[in-house]
Amino acid sequence: MKADILRILRDADGFVSGQSLCEQLGVSRTAIWKIMNQLKDEGYVIKAVNRKGYALDYEPDHLSAAEVKSRLSESSLFNKIYYFDEITSTNDYVKKLSEADEPEGVVVIADHQSAGKGRRGHEWVSPSGQNIYMSFMLKPELDPGRASMLTLVCALAVRDALKKQQFDPVIKWPNDLILSGKKVCGILTEMSTQMTCINYIVVGIGINVMQTEFDAAIKDVATSMKLESGRDFNRAQIAADLLKAFEGYYAQFLETKDLSLLKENYEASLANMDKEVRIIGTKEERSGIAKGIDNTGELLVEIDGKIERIMSGEVSVRGILGYV
Ligand code: BTN
Repeated sequence: MKADILRILRDADGFVSGQSLCEQLGVSRTAIWKIMNQLKDEGYVIKAVNRKGYALDYEPDHLSAAEVKSRLSESSLFNKIYYFDEITSTNDYVKKLSEADEPEGVVVIADHQSAGKGRRGHEWVSPSGQNIYMSFMLKPELDPGRASMLTLVCALAVRDALKKQQFDPVIKWPNDLILSGKKVCGILTEMSTQMTCINYIVVGIGINVMQTEFDAAIKDVATSMKLESGRDFNRAQIAADLLKAFEGYYAQFLETKDLSLLKENYEASLANMDKEVRIIGTKEERSGIAKGIDNTGELLVEIDGKIERIMSGEVSVRGILGYV
């Protein structure tokens, strides 16, 4: 109900009467009044004027399920959201929920992760009060071999959410979001499969929003939205924009079960497009010119006049001068 009240107040042009809130939500004035007080305690500034009603004056950067939900449509795929002040890893929690038969679209958001996971077994350091750590579950009818494409779909959605905040990020194939040559967001997709079908997929996203100090090991390659702009951000808004954008792209993905409808859009933000890249495998390193992606999300690289397809997971791709 908190989410509904926030949604109504935010959408309203000015005041909303107590009567109208009661009617829209089918609850008593006392119930509305109680929630208004809870919101005030949480740092919202809500004007209450006799005979006019309520108006939302200020919203704190308050990451909560209600805050995110209130920014999504009621018919959103992502209408079941769990929020935790602290958790081990949002990916791991979504896995638990999936094993307990939660429906597709369940979302877990945390303010702090004590065991955040990055790709290739790395740790994802997850301090509190600063960033977004969010995972959601999908259950597409899909060949398991196609699941990794969803990471690229998610990268597009994060790009759109960052654009809404006046950034112009690029994507380092397959799924790192880059601002000024440094990583601002990482995506970790995990799945549970049977022989030929997917039980569930977990897509986990970490966005550096307000963090201004990074560990020595990553400080040259990591950045945040705050560091790049000096501005403050509302994390719930960014999380909701991301989920909305993902839902749209996911629907397009499901039409073809590949990236054919999204390829052009993805390539428009590809950091390495037409640039020299190093392909760092376990045994050898080669270089070539990145030429975009194919419909399955593999990177096309021109090496000695021939186009080769590079699969994500197999290798790490770096620009010729450094990280991007
Ligand atoms: C990467 O290494 O680039 C991927 C980082 C993914 C981090 C996110 S934070 C939310 C979710 N929970 C995790 O434990 N990891 C992902």
